[in-house]
Formats: sequence, C-alpha cells, structure tokens
Amino acid sequence: MSTRTFRIAPSILSADFARLGEEVRNVIAAGADWIHFDVMDNHYVPNLTFGPMICSALKPHAKKADGSAVPIDVHLMVQPVDALAESFAKAGADYISFHPDASTHVHRSVQAIKAAGCKAGLTFNPAASLDVLDWVIDDIDLVLIMSVNPGFGGQGFIDSALRKIEQARKRIDASGRDIRLEVDGGIKTDNIARVAAAGADTFVAGSAIFGKPDYRGVIDGMRAQLRG
Ligand code: DX5
Ligand code: ZN
Repeated sequence: MSTRTFRIAPSILSADFARLGEEVRNVIAAGADWIHFDVMDNHYVPNLTFGPMICSALKPHAKKADGSAVPIDVHLMVQPVDALAESFAKAGADYISFHPDASTHVHRSVQAIKAAGCKAGLTFNPAASLDVLDWVIDDIDLVLIMSVNPGFGGQGFIDSALRKIEQARKRIDASGRDIRLEVDGGIKTDNIARVAAAGADTFVAGSAIFGKPDYRGVIDGMRAQLRG
C-alpha cells in the first residue's frame, strides 16, 4: 500500500489496570511499536485515568527483549497543559501530544514539550479544524487525529476522520518534515487498511487489542491488513 513505516500503538486504557507492568511487557512481546498512554483529568474529558507517577513506574517495562526502548506516547486530555506536560517529560514520556483547544498558548506549550526533551504532538477532536497547523507545523513531530470523542475506549470509528486524515496528510507532505500521522479511536483489524489509505501511519488501538486474549494475533492481523 505504501512505503511508509507503520506503527501500532496499543492504548493501555483498555489493559488490566491491576497488572499494568505485565500488560505493557506482554503487548510489547506481541509486537507493539509504541505504548499509547491516555491521560484524562475529569475536566477536559469526563473521565479520570493515570498521571506521571504511573508513567514513571511503567517506563522500565517499556522495553523490547533486546533491551531497546519502546516509545511512550502520552496523549494528554487535560486542561491546562504545560505543567503536566513537563511532569510527563520527567516521567519518561517520549511523545507528548495535547489538544490545542486545551491550551491558551499552543505555540508556548509545543515549545515547553520540546524544551523538556520530548517530541511534541497536536491532537484534533472529531469536530476540530486543522487550521492551527498552519502556524506550528514546523515545530511539531506528530499529528493525532481523533476518530472518536476523547474520554473512553471502545467507541465506534467516526467516518469523517478519514477526510481529516487526508487533509492532515497533505499538510504534512507539503511541510516536507518528518511528522507522524496518528489516528486514535475505533481502530480495528477490519478498518485499519482504510485508515492507512487515507494517509495515517500510526494506529492507536485499545479495545481491539486488549479486548482479545491473543494480542499477537490482533497485531499480526493489523499488520497483514496494512501490507495488503
Ligand atoms: C480515547 C483514547 C483512546 C482509546 C482508544 O479518549 O484517546 O486512545 O484508548 O480506544 P479504542 O481503540 O478502544 O477506541
Ligand atoms: Zn488516546
């Protein structure tokens, strides 16, 4: 389908919270490329998950068998952004993305994440426009398109996200920069190929992976679809 390198980023939002370290190790052994870490604050979104202390506790588990690090992809659904982003940088996050409508000063938040040594991403809700990218595309490393409303795992994919992915792909290609285009929400083995065809290269999947006993079976199935 493409020469792009695809990445699969299981969201531990759907993992067994009583065994998080083991879940991270198991999903990496099953072929996960990144670990997607959903931070919810019961303010920007109507749910509450985990903070920097959990990220820091999981960091030593985010490794492949050969000892190489697996990136922790922190998705902040919080408002305000900057102070928590800095705490996550200290806690071992590799990518930190936030919703531009949750920050009063988007450019400043991007700079704060980069100054803390992390890659910075912007996340777009289903009804959010991509216009802000006109002004920060030279500064970011990741665009994250939400294909569900943020706050919960296990929701259905919103089809208008496909058009938004196409638009984001055009903007990224026009920038000439190395920016990941990630999609989050409702990704399953049976729709991942369509999402890739629209231009995505990085796929968050929570319930599709952690909802099945055989994580490797699901991840291999997704990769087979991406090759097809
Ligand atoms: C939703 C989160 C997602 C969530 C996706 O707010 O950002 O990362 O875990 O879950 P699924 O893959 O089940 O839609
Ligand atoms: Zn997410």
